Amino acid sequence: MSTGIFISFEGIDGAGKSTHIDTLAQALAQAGRTVVRTREPGGTPLAEQLRGLALNAPMDALTEALLMFAARRDHLTQVIEPALARGDVVLCDRFTDATFAYQGGGRGFDLAVLGQLEHWVQGRPDGSLRQPELTLLFELSPEEAATRLAGARVPDKFESQPVEFFRRVAAGYVRRAQAEPARFARIDAAQSRDAVWSSVRAALAARGWL
Ligand code: TYD
Repeated sequence: MSTGIFISFEGIDGAGKSTHIDTLAQALAQAGRTVVRTREPGGTPLAEQLRGLALNAPMDALTEALLMFAARRDHLTQVIEPALARGDVVLCDRFTDATFAYQGGGRGFDLAVLGQLEHWVQGRPDGSLRQPELTLLFELSPEEAATRLAGARVPDKFESQPVEFFRRVAAGYVRRAQAEPARFARIDAAQSRDAVWSSVRAALAARGWL
């Protein structure tokens, strides 16, 4: 039985989740929780190597999905499960919903295959799936996100995709949120930074975590 709290952060590139992960990590630490801040793909030495490949090397959609789930498996066993067993709060910048949104929605890859990989990688001994208790979905129009990203840095393989790709990614996220509304808090990321933070805080407060 895990006693920790697992929270993931999702949204299209440029939606602005990163600063709020930092702010939330500080708020939880001030509230006396031990926080593990991590990311996907990545979070372990092996998974960070897989991240470098998945985000930069050209490959077909199945190879990309397999790398995402291989990185996730290592991250879960090495970092996430031990942290939850200790009772820590895990703040994860992206998790499985990103694979359904980017590889499934963006690339158009078979959702049934992704579902099977999800079961293999996140399946638990009792037959349930390891998923975040809360997923904060930062929603922003692809046009606005592209404006925010422009000039920020050299884009990786995904960041350089056209607006239509991100429209499909966003639709992929909405499908996941509609399938599991209790797990998701949908945040309007077009608001001011302070208003977005208030929405994040409210989602945590509603669950008694802040
Ligand atoms: P991101 O989380 O935006 O990190 P940074 O802010 O450092 O660029 O970048 C990760 C990229 O990986 C993002 O474009 C989405 C993509 N991604 C997938 O395509 N599938 C996945 O399963 C995950 C976790 C990420």
